[in-house]
Amino acid sequence: MGIVLGIESSCDETAAALVTTGREIVAQRIASQDEEHAPYGGVVPEIAARAHAEKLAPMIEAVLADGSVELRDLDAIAATAGPGLIGGVMVGLVSAKALAMASEVPLIAVNHLEGHALSPRLADPELEFPYALLLVSGGHCQILRVEGVGKYTRLSTTIDDALGEAFDKTAKILGLGFPGGPAVEKLALEGNAKAVPLPRPLLGSDEPHFSFAGLKSAVLRAKERQSQSVRPEPVEGQGESPGKRASTSSARTVSGYSDADIAASFQQAALDCVLDRLRVSLDTMEPVPALVVAGGVAANKAIRAALEGFASERGLRFVAPPMALCTDNAAMIAWAGCERLGMNEFRADPLDIAARPRWPLDPDAEPVRGAGYKA
Ligand code: KG4
Ligand code: ZN
Repeated sequence: MGIVLGIESSCDETAAALVTTGREIVAQRIASQDEEHAPYGGVVPEIAARAHAEKLAPMIEAVLADGSVELRDLDAIAATAGPGLIGGVMVGLVSAKALAMASEVPLIAVNHLEGHALSPRLADPELEFPYALLLVSGGHCQILRVEGVGKYTRLSTTIDDALGEAFDKTAKILGLGFPGGPAVEKLALEGNAKAVPLPRPLLGSDEPHFSFAGLKSAVLRAKERQSQSVRPEPVEGQGESPGKRASTSSARTVSGYSDADIAASFQQAALDCVLDRLRVSLDTMEPVPALVVAGGVAANKAIRAALEGFASERGLRFVAPPMALCTDNAAMIAWAGCERLGMNEFRADPLDIAARPRWPLDPDAEPVRGAGYKA
């Protein structure tokens, strides 16, 4: 049995983990940079890279100590080599190269998206290739047929925003802070998903692609309408207080809906789009026995539940990784390394391999008409 050190630093999580080819997560640590980025309402690449540079080396040391593992005991060192914010990716990849060189352990440069794509197999030994994968994160929104390690056919991608990005922008509009996905999900629990009419971009289109920019703009307009129509609330001794803003989930408004209603309506609209796009993709895909979801948005319970229902209607097995493996982590990177190690034709990557800001899983996929470039 082999053991792999995984390193993740492509966005705002610094993470290291030890995983065996027998699917045991021996040790893992993760440091989020939420506090550093919160004042800016999003990830600032320069701040992220500096934070990775400070946190990563002691974290690797700690993870090796947690697992009582020496560098020379490792069978490989796997690090995210892209896609992602290039400064952060370079910190992780160069650290891995230095450790690999010093300890003469093979280096594996992992595609972050492949880490997400294979993560469900870490938790579920019964999940075999091929499977249909909905990969939904802050930077990506794709439907793929996963045929094997390194073998992906992309059927669908987004022509503008990723699903996680739409959640984050909705959170920003509602003043929920950063990162936004979990906050929108929580607020949506208190809201009425039918209260705010919102568009479902590309619903019913024969092409399986996603679009969320129009939905985000509609959320912004809904919030503006709500703020403009706030009923002035009388303030004791001062008569009416004009223009009081509706900033809480329970604010009474003339428009008749609360922030929670906007969150719930947004989540429902996004979900309707996801199920519709999946339907079209699965209809054009060579049949698969399982539907799998991965990436940060896969942590959303409402989305998981809807996907589970959708899969069972279509007679598909549904697999979602445990919550901790959905958002960025190093166990999935170590596991992608384990998967590579297990291949007959395993070859380590050279020490001069480049960090890649963009790195599509399916390089042969047709570019999508009207799309901005998404890896
Ligand atoms: O996979 P990930 O950690 O990083 C990327 O590779 O992008 O995904 C982060 C994204 C963010 O946009 C975040 O808001 C979203 O996943 N996310 C969620 C939830 N948890 C994380 N979106 C909706 N509901 C959640 N519970
Ligand atoms: Zn990710």
